Amino acid sequence: MKTIRKTGIALVLGTVALALTACAKDKTPAKPAVASQQQASQASNYVSQDGILLAYFSRRGQNHTDQGIQTLEIGNTERVALKISDQLKQPAYQIQTVKPYTDDFKEMLEIAKKEQAENARPELKGPLPDMKPVKTMVLGYPIWHGTMPMAVFSFLEKVGCDNITIVPFNTHGSSGVARSVDDLRKVCPKATVLDGTPIKGTLAAGADKEAAEIAKKARP
Ligand SMILES: Cc1cc2nc3c(=O)[nH]c(=O)nc-3n(C[C@H](O)[C@H](O)[C@H](O)COP(=O)(O)O)c2cc1C
Repeated sequence: MKTIRKTGIALVLGTVALALTACAKDKTPAKPAVASQQQASQASNYVSQDGILLAYFSRRGQNHTDQGIQTLEIGNTERVALKISDQLKQPAYQIQTVKPYTDDFKEMLEIAKKEQAENARPELKGPLPDMKPVKTMVLGYPIWHGTMPMAVFSFLEKVGCDNITIVPFNTHGSSGVARSVDDLRKVCPKATVLDGTPIKGTLAAGADKEAAEIAKKARP
């Protein structure tokens, strides 16, 4: 017991000594653990060293599959996002609404239709990613009634998308990219928005080749 406590104290002292040495060397004052409230409320560790952010929106629950309507434990877009995450070797940031969406497919169609008709901006769960270091954003979403879910509009407006490159990908039932990339270009007029990569939702589990191609667009 004593040895463990001694080792623990030695480790803590060692870490403090190392931190002090580092500060002394570059003569910059030690940063407080939390620099500001704003910083604390931002999601860190999602942006790679070379400035890539992988963000996606996806809904779990009932959806059309080859076996009819089934409950999906992992959403289609999420499946593709996770494959891209493996390719890019970085975590994927999930865009989430404060109010979770229903698992019920039919109900979801009505909710999404209403949100779109009202041009709603559903409130998002924080923390949101810090866009300052972002050069390229890989952005994934399903098509909902011809375009991105309104939560993705909320996200883009909230975090901002000026002067970055956006690599869009989406899953869908049959409508390809639909209006989503045009809308993306409208919401982010100062971004370079590449052409989208549409993937049929029912094929998401096998979309390794597409995921590799999307990753390649982000990091050629
Ligand atoms: C509310 C809602 C609206 C949809 N609208 C369309 C559509 O307009 N065109 C289409 O091809 N698929 C449409 N779909 C199908 C989804 O785009 C498709 O199932 C997608 O893969 C779901 O992705 P997710 O599991 O990541 O949420 C819709 C699905 C939902 C739930």
